[in-house]
Order: sequence, then C-alpha cells, then structure tokens
Amino acid sequence: MIKTENLTKKYGEMFAIKGIDLDLEQGDLFGFIGPNGAGKTTTMRIIATLLEPSWGEAYVCGNSIYNSPKEIRRLVGYMPDFFGVYDDMKVIEYLEFFAAAYRIKGKARRKKCDEMLETVDLDFKRDAFANTLSRGQTQRLGLARVLLHDPQVLLLDEPLSGLDPRARIEMRNLLRRLGQTGKTIIVSSHILPELADVCNKIGIIDRGVMSHAAEVTEVMKLVRQQTILHIGIKGDEHKAIELLQGHELVDSVRPGDACLVVTLKQIETDYSDLATQLITNGLGITRFQEEEIDLESAFMALTKGTGANF
Ligand SMILES: Nc1ncnc2c1ncn2[C@@H]1O[C@H](COP(=O)(O)OP(=O)(O)O)[C@@H](O)[C@H]1O
Ligand SMILES: [Mg+2]
Repeated sequence: MIKTENLTKKYGEMFAIKGIDLDLEQGDLFGFIGPNGAGKTTTMRIIATLLEPSWGEAYVCGNSIYNSPKEIRRLVGYMPDFFGVYDDMKVIEYLEFFAAAYRIKGKARRKKCDEMLETVDLDFKRDAFANTLSRGQTQRLGLARVLLHDPQVLLLDEPLSGLDPRARIEMRNLLRRLGQTGKTIIVSSHILPELADVCNKIGIIDRGVMSHAAEVTEVMKLVRQQTILHIGIKGDEHKAIELLQGHELVDSVRPGDACLVVTLKQIETDYSDLATQLITNGLGITRFQEEEIDLESAFMALTKGTGANF
C-alpha cells in the first residue's frame, strides 16, 4: 500500500532522511515516532508528492511518486503539522470551499461536508467562524478536510501536538476509529508512548535514520523478555515468598507495593499453577496480575544507543 525504498533527501551536505525503507499494508496504522528534526515531515511530504527526494523510491498503491504523482494525490489525504484557516469563513464554508476544489458538486457537497463534521465530532461548531476554534477543534477540522475526497491513505503530521489532555484523548479516539475503516494511515509524533496503543506498527526515526520499524507487539517483545506478576498475599508472606522462589517458573521474588513482584524465568502465559500452589498451601490471594509494559521505559530502552533524545 505504501512502500519506500532507500528514500533519501539531502539539503546540501546534510541528510534530512537517509535510506528510509517502509512497507505498509492496507489498514495499517503506522506511528512514525521521532524527535524534532528527525525527518518525519520530510518523509511524509515526499510520499504526498509535495517534495522530491534526492534518491530512492516511494509507492502508494503501486504508483511511483516519479511516474504517477496525480494518482497519488487522489489516493492520499495529507494533513500538515500547521495549517491556516481563513479568518472570515465559517466552519461549514471552509469545508465547502475545499469540497468544491475536489469537484464535489451541488447537494452532495453540503451533505458530504455535514457528514465529515459528524465524523470528526465537530457538527456543533458548524456555523462558528473557523478562527474561533481551539487548537484541538482546528486539528479535527483539518482532518475533516483531508477526508473529503475519501482518500485510502492518510498522512497526518503531528495531529496530537499542542493539544490539551482532553483534546488529545478525543484525537486519539478519532485515529482509532479511522484505523478501523481500512484506510492506511501514517501518523507522526515526537512523544513516545502517545501512539503505541493506537497503532499496530511503529517506526522510530532519529537524525534521518529509521530503526525498529515493526508491529507494536514485536517491539514490545524486544523490550520485555520475562513475565512479571504482582501477587497480593493474605497470610504468611514469608511462606509465600519461599513457595514462589522454589517454583520452577520463578526467577526472582521481591516485595512491591502491597504485593510481591514475581519475575518469571521467561515469557509465560500459563502461570496458573502459582496460584494453585499458594492456595493449596493455605495462603489467600488478594491480587494476581501481570505487570503491563510501561511504554515510556520500553521506548527509552529501545532508543538507547541510537542517540535519540526525546
Ligand atoms: N527546506 C529545508 N532546507 C534545509 N533543511 C531542511 C529543510 N527542511 C527540513 N530541513 C532539515 O531536515 C531535517 C528533518 O526535518 P523534518 O523532516 O522537518 O523533521 P521532523 O518533521 O521530524 O521534525 C531537519 O534537520 C531540518 O532542519
Ligand atoms: Mg515535522
């Protein structure tokens, strides 16, 4: 659906991006993560055919950026990180203006615009002036605009940046919903954990070079090689520690926050025998829970050594 091969852009002697290889399938929601200046915007603008690479290839649905830029523009909705709205236009007029540019005509135009406002939860601002919207609402209006021509591919450049926590949650939910429509989406962010639970694939880019482009679950496996359990004990805690430490699945046990933190020898999905052993030995269990992977530390571990400074 989206493929790049050795995609490279130089400004003078400086590499803005260097040898980016990307391979996304239909329905992928790809989180493109990297600090400011890493090369995210450059990559997305090249795929949108708004910027020429120095060398390398990019394809959208099999169309090359060199041979078929027109087809690509029809297939792609690109939302830049900053865009202006016109001062004297209402929200609905703003959308109709762009719908007209996409040659959506007559009654269908208004209908389509209303539909898009609903999609991005902005119908309540339909008749407000566009320049009175909050940053979050402006971003959603921008999204409505790129959705007008029903593109199969969305390139969204930092749609979450500058949003307050509430607007961030709303935008993330919107991304999740769009991800379920079968569109192929690239969404960039300079904030690490922000996208991992929305996307199915992520790639980390730093100083023009991409590392760790993979399924989110794969990336998580790279980080976590052992299962960790939090077990709350009712009864003799020392006895519990002794029992757990003697169990064949267990690597180590240490006291945690009102529970025992039990690290298993490897990744293990069936650890029910631990509970059975505790109970048959007369101990009560108040909590039995696998520790979730902390995304922030996961990414810090992954980017260690790449020089990434988030
Ligand atoms: N028009 C330009 N001229 C020179 N350097 C540029 C230009 N556009 C981007 N760059 C440089 O290319 C690198 C990548 O930029 P960019 O793709 O905007 O990164 P990001 O979007 O990840 O913040 C940066 O070092 C930036 O300064
Ligand atoms: Mg950018």
